[in-house]
Amino acid sequence: MLSHRQIVFAACFLVLPFLLWQFVSLSEQYSLSGARLWPETICTAILPTIEDEIHSIPQKRHRVAVASTFGFHHDVYMSLVWTLERVLDQTGGTVEVYAPQPFGFEFQTIVDTLRLYRGQVKDPETLLDNINQNMGDRGIDLVVLGTCEVDLRGGDWPEGLLDAWDARDDDHKFNLACIVHNFNDVSWQEWITPWSRRNAIRILPISEHVAAAFRRSFFIKSDSPDPSIRLAGYEYIPVDVHVPILDIPVPVDHRPPRILSDAVIQGSFSTDRRDYLEIFAELKESLARDPQVWGYLPLTAEDESYIVDPTLADPPFRLFLIGSGYLEIPSELRNLVLIRDGLNYSDFYTLMRTMDICVPAFSTGGGYYDSQASSTFAMAVECDVPILVTERIKNSYMYVNDDRAVVTRPAAMREVEALRALRTRDVSFFLNRTSTLNSPTAHAADAMMRMGWVRSEEKFRSLKQDIWRANERVGERMLRDM
Ligand SMILES: *[C@@H]1O[C@H](CO)[C@@H](O)[C@H](O)[C@H]1NC(C)=O
Ligand SMILES: *[C@@H]1O[C@H](CO)[C@@H](O)[C@H](O)[C@H]1NC(C)=O
Repeated sequence: MLSHRQIVFAACFLVLPFLLWQFVSLSEQYSLSGARLWPETICTAILPTIEDEIHSIPQKRHRVAVASTFGFHHDVYMSLVWTLERVLDQTGGTVEVYAPQPFGFEFQTIVDTLRLYRGQVKDPETLLDNINQNMGDRGIDLVVLGTCEVDLRGGDWPEGLLDAWDARDDDHKFNLACIVHNFNDVSWQEWITPWSRRNAIRILPISEHVAAAFRRSFFIKSDSPDPSIRLAGYEYIPVDVHVPILDIPVPVDHRPPRILSDAVIQGSFSTDRRDYLEIFAELKESLARDPQVWGYLPLTAEDESYIVDPTLADPPFRLFLIGSGYLEIPSELRNLVLIRDGLNYSDFYTLMRTMDICVPAFSTGGGYYDSQASSTFAMAVECDVPILVTERIKNSYMYVNDDRAVVTRPAAMREVEALRALRTRDVSFFLNRTSTLNSPTAHAADAMMRMGWVRSEEKFRSLKQDIWRANERVGERMLRDM
């Protein structure tokens, strides 16, 4: 007996040569965008790799300009440059970068080491001239802005780019792609309307929850009582997530899994965005109760700060704050909470790679869950550092909704409690406080303990490869669509 699958396979095997012949003859009658004639709906059941082979479909766009006037986020847009170069290597074409120079925090070393971009970075002041210099066949046909919240807020670009688009003939229009970071930063968003009316814009958030916020707002705008908004076609604006993760070389670590000792909170030291104060308070409370589990001696009358217990074999717990800004550390925690600010990228990656676990520490009311993208997950995944998350975080940052990179705590268990449980491999202090030992919360705590906090380099590698492949698909769509 033939199975259903075998029948489908055999049928497709027989009709495929015919369809290919049809495709070739039809392509001769239609323009190259006739690539849509590919019989993908018929045989996708047995051709799951057709997406992977998309390189063979001719791309429409060949000369990309990635540009920003903003002195930050170069790690984000240069990651896209790297993706686009990989795709263009297959399809033919070039990328040129326009950005303030030098890149901040010695990022050029990373660009060179990882070969993110082989060309010369150009002055952003020359972007419009270079777009207008060639309005024909070899002109710039895709413009990516590194931070649209800044790049389309003022200056020459908002008007200048539209004028440049209007000046081109119909066969030589360019597309605009906007990398965005924060949905709630709305001051530039009026510029989306004229680009949407021209069917020439794509939104490129760095995380799924920011994409969701834009899609929601675009659907609402499509229903606008104002016909000039309603007719702009907002609901058809492509919104695509490109996750800015670089291939930071991580040295192979053959040490046996050790006790959890070095945690990191990474990002600007803003107490609105991150709950530093609550973390400090909980650490103090836990140390007061049980300093030994953290590796410290009890405070005596003379001590201002906890001191490492020299009799313990395990390294003491330390919390690194890596970022920038100013933050007052409570005197009790001076030996335990260590600030590392203003690091250049090389030193940042080197230190980050030694961390055992990354703690997001988002404040509950902050926008990092709903509208704004934190780069902390990308930084941690790049450096193979497991991240302590909740279901809520995984729902926002879909690319870390993956056990290869994260340790999931029940939200009822505070971050400090989770760190303690993972460090001591004992969660009974928490289970005793849940309403019943059989609750879903208790099960989630058990599951967290069972998986532990160590994530292998191989697991991280395979997750990153999945992300890079998905990024390439985004790059292909940017070069193909519209
Ligand atoms: C980064 O900073 C460190 C210490 O300040 C310095 O030694 C190193 O040369 C810097 N790296 C680069 C690539 O400039
Ligand atoms: C939790 O409860 C169990 C059983 O009652 C007890 O043996 C254990 O000591 C308690 N643990 C803590 C940390 O209170």
